[in-house]
Amino acid sequence: MTPELIRDALRQVRYPGFSRDIVSFGLVKEITCDPGQTTVAIEVQTRDPKIPEQIFHDCHAILDTLPDVGAVKVDIRIKDAPAAAAGAGSVGKSSIPGVKHIIAVASGKGGVGKSTVASNLAVALAATGDRVGLCDCDLYGPSMAKMFGISERPMANDQDEIIPLEACGVKLMSMGFLLEDSSPVIVRGPMATRYTQQFLRQVAWGELDYLILDLPPGTGDIQLTIVQTVSVDGAVIVTTPQEVALIDARKAVSMFAKVNVPILGLIENMAWFECDAGKRYHLFGDGGGVREAQALNLPLLGRIPIDIATREGGDAGRPVALLPPDLNKVSAAFHELAAGIRAAVPNG
Ligand SMILES: Nc1ncnc2c1ncn2[C@@H]1O[C@H](COP(=O)(O)OP(=O)(O)OP(=O)(O)O)[C@@H](O)[C@H]1O
Ligand SMILES: [Mg+2]
Repeated sequence: MTPELIRDALRQVRYPGFSRDIVSFGLVKEITCDPGQTTVAIEVQTRDPKIPEQIFHDCHAILDTLPDVGAVKVDIRIKDAPAAAAGAGSVGKSSIPGVKHIIAVASGKGGVGKSTVASNLAVALAATGDRVGLCDCDLYGPSMAKMFGISERPMANDQDEIIPLEACGVKLMSMGFLLEDSSPVIVRGPMATRYTQQFLRQVAWGELDYLILDLPPGTGDIQLTIVQTVSVDGAVIVTTPQEVALIDARKAVSMFAKVNVPILGLIENMAWFECDAGKRYHLFGDGGGVREAQALNLPLLGRIPIDIATREGGDAGRPVALLPPDLNKVSAAFHELAAGIRAAVPNG
């Protein structure tokens, strides 16, 4: 038996709630194969005892069946994790000093409107006096430079923290602020983890009521790093009414549930298109988000139509939620969403 074969076998062990395996997440720290004895050391950052238990069990289930391994010893080292990753009891606390609430905007499928929702939610919360930050955690395809019309670069303070840029009353940090326009973003594995931790910990967010995290789609390195690094008060899952999006939304819901991040609710984006005559066309199907929220027993926090002003606002750096809610229906929907988030977050 060799460490390489053991490592390969461990690729079948998934991190609970994620479709990725513990090897690709970099959690397998050491493998030794001595005659009659195989030892693997795995490092997990969590305060939820069920996660190391599950990994321990799954590792044994795989390794014990291999030939020539001898006695198998699975040594799980638990690193201390932020309070809220521990579970519902600690909800409401943040592990970023000065930040009261951390809200993740997530989805299973790409392109369903997370960044649009995150930017408008941030603007709508800020419009009513909350102090709001928005962290673009999508290192691969950052959106916030474009969505807030930012072309400057952030500076550092004398503690070597990045000073977030500010637009539309929101403090912002994005990989897009650090990159040349056309440079490709190749950030994977440990690098993605390091950048994500820096965006959360080494940015001078200051005093905030809400820090909104705009996530990349799916359940990968960045999602795992976030739940291991800070205490997320709740996640908002964005979906379109289409079945392919709903299937992936379910996966995202189950991932957050497994790591004890409360799901605040679903948002059905691109729910319909209304023509000038007022007729509604359900381009991606009618009411998929509504039914899914019912089936999962989650609140439906909002239904956002396909809307030209919303798309244009995103492209022009002026989120549609800046428009007065009494004059624009989509802005009104985002302001309602903000009210729903405030109500859903304890002490919000
Ligand atoms: N309600 C809407 N009406 C019109 N256009 C929309 C709406 N929501 C999103 N869009 C547009 O759809 C595109 C994708 O939206 P967005 O970037 O917000 O999705 P995303 O889920 O963040 O994507 P990714 O998975 O790539 O991060 C953008 O061009 C955006 O302007
Ligand atoms: Mg996005």
